[in-house]
Amino acid sequence: MSGKRFTVAITGASGSAFGVATLRRLAANDLVAEVALLISPTGRRCLADECRMKVEDLGELSPKIKHHDERNLGAAISSGSHRADGMVVIPCSAGALGRIASGISESLVSRAADVCLKERNPLVLCLRETPLNRIHLENMLRVHDAGAIVMPIMPGFYTKPSTFDDIYDTFATRVLDQLGISEDDPRRWKG
Ligand SMILES: Cc1cc2nc3c(=O)[nH]c(=O)nc-3n(C[C@H](O)[C@H](O)[C@H](O)COP(=O)(O)O)c2cc1C
Repeated sequence: MSGKRFTVAITGASGSAFGVATLRRLAANDLVAEVALLISPTGRRCLADECRMKVEDLGELSPKIKHHDERNLGAAISSGSHRADGMVVIPCSAGALGRIASGISESLVSRAADVCLKERNPLVLCLRETPLNRIHLENMLRVHDAGAIVMPIMPGFYTKPSTFDDIYDTFATRVLDQLGISEDDPRRWKG
């Protein structure tokens, strides 16, 4: 299989547009052959509320995007024997963070994340919650210690964004960086 394979999971937190932007950018990159898309039930609800989009709309963004039912624990990404290059959960709910931190692999989102950690593939968790309680903070440290990259949705404003898409896209650039997909972006800080 040539080309990289990533997983994008959208969970039930505000900010699903950040997930859509990341999905779009990964699928558009020539180095990427396939993007597995996972979305939790509450993730679907947030996507509908905030982006006026359905899962089917996301699948239509690119033929590289393959949606998997998050209850399908038999999907290829559920196994470490399936070669994959990394995963991002964006937005990542506090609930998803807690399940990943505890190794509770009851859904394809938490199982695929667990597989990433055990196979030492990049796992980027874009938490979206505020303020943070002690449980959230401890869970962030736990996943960090297990190898995950904790990357809360905290966009930079030094780029002087003029649209919401600017904000989503600049953040997507940073997420792709963490997955080893470095793209030119005029909004990078140049000093
Ligand atoms: C409209 C809506 C918005 C929510 N926003 C957040 C949020 O921003 N952050 C968060 O941690 N949980 C949020 N929640 C709660 C989670 O969706 C809930 O804890 C859920 O069980 C998380 O499961 P999931 O990660 O499988 O989607 C929200 C729920 C709803 C219905």
